[in-house]
Amino acid sequence: MSIALDESKIIGEQKRSYVRDMFARVAPRYDLLNSLLSLRIHHYWREAATREARLRPGDTALDVCTGTADLALRLAREVGSSGMVIGVDFCEPMLQLGLKKARRHSRHGQITLVLGDALQLPFASGSFEAVTVAFGIRNVVDIRKAFAEMWRVLKPGGRLVCLEFSLPRRQPFRSIYSLYFHRLLPYIGGLLSHRDAYTYLPTSVRYFPEREKLAQILREAGFVEVAWRELTFGIVCIHSGVKP
Ligand SMILES: C[S@@+](CC[C@H](N)C(=O)[O-])C[C@H]1O[C@@H](n2cnc3c(N)ncnc32)[C@H](O)[C@@H]1O
Repeated sequence: MSIALDESKIIGEQKRSYVRDMFARVAPRYDLLNSLLSLRIHHYWREAATREARLRPGDTALDVCTGTADLALRLAREVGSSGMVIGVDFCEPMLQLGLKKARRHSRHGQITLVLGDALQLPFASGSFEAVTVAFGIRNVVDIRKAFAEMWRVLKPGGRLVCLEFSLPRRQPFRSIYSLYFHRLLPYIGGLLSHRDAYTYLPTSVRYFPEREKLAQILREAGFVEVAWRELTFGIVCIHSGVKP
């Protein structure tokens, strides 16, 4: 099935079900395409996000929109056997794949994957030392509400880390990347998975708030020490903030 998506027009419950169904369809090939389309650089991006979370052994962390749990697995190494990482996502097929990986890496004792919505996190307030979200917030219907939820479940002093696609600003890289992102990526995505999902990706990035705007949204949600930095020529950005 192919859906022509105009991100500016699709909102609310319609976007929620579109996103969940889309990830359910791409789940079996999600990891393969992640590695292929990013030339495996996504491992380096997750590494950088992990460092930004500044976790210590024994800490408890939450990975929102965890998908197939790559970042949750990486975070689990930081918190060690005395700590705990919870991954939450509203798409069961993605979580099932994450669960298989967690079992393979024999860290499933430390990782719990929970079916739930970023807009209504099923956790008590003040539960986590860090909350991360990687390539997820762009897909959420109400970004402000999602950050308010992440703020709520963090402990005072806890860190939020948001890893998300962005658009490079410098030429000629911006034009070259745009060609790749809007033409080649949907083509390869179409060959190996579902073309509409890989057309949705660049569209959703285009409508996602710019770096400065996202930082402002975080401040308005109550975070302090808000900072952001670009990785890989600005293809992705890591935003961080602290709950006072
Ligand atoms: C691009 S994937 C990212 C997965 C993973 N974090 C990663 O880095 O590979 C986006 C994920 O966000 C999830 N998602 C989108 N909106 C959500 C919501 N409102 N609540 C929970 N999960 C959501 C999707 O189901 C999907 O698994």
